[in-house]
Amino acid sequence: MQTAAAVADFRTYPKTCDLADVQVLNDHIRVEWADGRISPFHHPWLRDNCPCAECVYSVTREQVLEIVDVDENLSAIAARIDQGFLSVEWSGGHRSQYDPGWLRAHAYDDASRHERHAKKPKPQLWNHTLKLPVFDYAAVMEDPNALLQWLLALRDVGLTQIRGVPTEPGSLALVAKRIAFIRESNFGVLFNVQSKADADSNAYTAFNLPLHSDLPTRELQPGLQFLHCLVNEADGGESIFVDGFAIANVLRAEDPEAFDALCEIPVEFRNKDRHSDYRRLAPIIALDASGDVAEIRMANFLRGPFDAPVEQMPLLYRAYRRFIAMTREARFRLVRRLNPGELWCFDNRRTLHARNAFDPASGARHFQGCYIDRDELLSRILVLQR
Ligand code: OGA
Ligand code: ZN
Ligand code: ZN
Repeated sequence: MQTAAAVADFRTYPKTCDLADVQVLNDHIRVEWADGRISPFHHPWLRDNCPCAECVYSVTREQVLEIVDVDENLSAIAARIDQGFLSVEWSGGHRSQYDPGWLRAHAYDDASRHERHAKKPKPQLWNHTLKLPVFDYAAVMEDPNALLQWLLALRDVGLTQIRGVPTEPGSLALVAKRIAFIRESNFGVLFNVQSKADADSNAYTAFNLPLHSDLPTRELQPGLQFLHCLVNEADGGESIFVDGFAIANVLRAEDPEAFDALCEIPVEFRNKDRHSDYRRLAPIIALDASGDVAEIRMANFLRGPFDAPVEQMPLLYRAYRRFIAMTREARFRLVRRLNPGELWCFDNRRTLHARNAFDPASGARHFQGCYIDRDELLSRILVLQR
């Protein structure tokens, strides 16, 4: 039996529109809203989403009901509007009450689905003219709203800078933990980017690093990467960024054959040292379920030999050269020198990063870096928005 009208969630759903009329029809309940929108809700859908204390455990707000345990021929016997809520009585005796804010937010008529789709955050593509989103360390550490603004910029722009960070080694972890725990890798919880004699990656030399994503050698590339400057006294070593999604979209428009090749032909990325041997075979561009560009996987210095069918090899080289040539075009590139106390934080699966070669004889250069998965960013945003 229904005890309290609740939603199976920790957030609330403000009422955006009143229920105007409800009618029980053959296989669904027809809801008419005060603004005239009609939302059909099929009987099994409503029964499946009953939020009562029998169907959803109030502590976890997770479902305990499995729809397969409800009679397949279940139907609504009666439905009415009760103090603004939709109230339903089912064959078999169960009763359900639905919050109008929740119901409207989950309605699946065409208009509601289009509205939801239109509200989904979309990447704001950028090029060399980007007005870099810059945030202040003290604000991000203390003010939940400043934190949220930073995280939204990370999600939507994919490149941000924070200034005023202490230059003691390890300070980076304090900033990262404003989002969540750090994703450790074989390079450590925090990795030190310094020119080293026994480098286990080209990153730890003074060479230039061409535009790349980090850990393309892993099944899941880290979602966020941080690079914090402790010391930067060497000549050279400027940071360079491009929006990989913007480049992929231009490639898609200008050279669809090359674009398709990068979406379809898997390429192997490798990273090995004396203790580890990571390999991942995957295409350079990944699309999401809607066909939009969702991820770039690229690091020339971590790439294995191409292994593609004979007839595809010339196309793969043409497409690969074209993509890299585009990452070198000035129109896409943002070039900045990072100063001590500043850090980059960017979407590692979208924004490719690079550095110019530096001269270690001219002075010291020490950056620290770390990774956080994208799930943690999105979760923190939703919790801050509750
Ligand atoms: C890296 C890297 C950039 C830099 O370590 O993966 O990209 O500026 N470093 O040193
Ligand atoms: Zn129930
Ligand atoms: Zn890198």
